[in-house]
Amino acid sequence: MIITVGGIKGGSGKTTIATNLAVFRAAEGRDVLLVDADDQETASDFTMLRNEQLEGGAGFTSIKLTGPAVRTEVKRLADKYDDIVIDTGGRDTTSQRAALTVSHTLLVPFVPRSFDVWTLEKVSQLVAEMRAANPELAAYAFINRADPRGQDNADAEEVIRDTEGLVLIDTPIGARKAFGNAAAHGLGVAELKPQDTKATAEFMMLYRHLHNIKKTSPIAVGA
Ligand SMILES: Nc1ncnc2c1ncn2[C@@H]1O[C@H](COP(=O)(O)OP(=O)(O)OP(=O)(O)O)[C@@H](O)[C@H]1O
Ligand SMILES: [Mg+2]
Repeated sequence: MIITVGGIKGGSGKTTIATNLAVFRAAEGRDVLLVDADDQETASDFTMLRNEQLEGGAGFTSIKLTGPAVRTEVKRLADKYDDIVIDTGGRDTTSQRAALTVSHTLLVPFVPRSFDVWTLEKVSQLVAEMRAANPELAAYAFINRADPRGQDNADAEEVIRDTEGLVLIDTPIGARKAFGNAAAHGLGVAELKPQDTKATAEFMMLYRHLHNIKKTSPIAVGA
């Protein structure tokens, strides 16, 4: 599966989710390529740190790509890996568009705040435009950094449900320090010791959901 973690809002958790997906997928014995298509290069920095910190190395391969090369190189490498995870920057970039021409799935994290939710319409437009080039593209959104209480999570989920072209995955991930703490050590959230079981369980729910989607037709689920 080729999955792009994207959207057009900075700081929504794209790199956190992309790196954790790569870590989890690799832990299952899959040959994973993590593509850093963001010029900030955070996913690459994470992988470098992970290679330094873990005796056995990162467990996956990471490369940096930018612009149209995201499409051409990912196409070229698609057969060589079981899974490709593409991390994009927090804007509507050529790199993200190139990624979406070759991806099966777009996964968009949303923080339940107005400024983030306001970008939904633009993400919807982006998906519609990219489906002209890649009709099979499935697009999912979920709430990341969910509030521990209050109405904002449910309100944001409601707006996502009403957004054309995007399917809500209704397993939110809470605002949990474990994600940042794990990343600071080059680790996935499940590898952090002591483990934050809630953060791990929430990520696993999202992960399983994506995995199950993959087993069925993405278009059937995404319709
Ligand atoms: N579920 C979460 N709970 C708590 N903190 C989180 C969560 N997800 C991400 N963060 C933190 O939020 C910050 C931004 O996350 P991240 O870098 O993954 O976002 P991004 O969308 O990749 O940002 P950018 O648009 O700059 O690439 C980081 O400090 C990260 O540790
Ligand atoms: Mg990022």
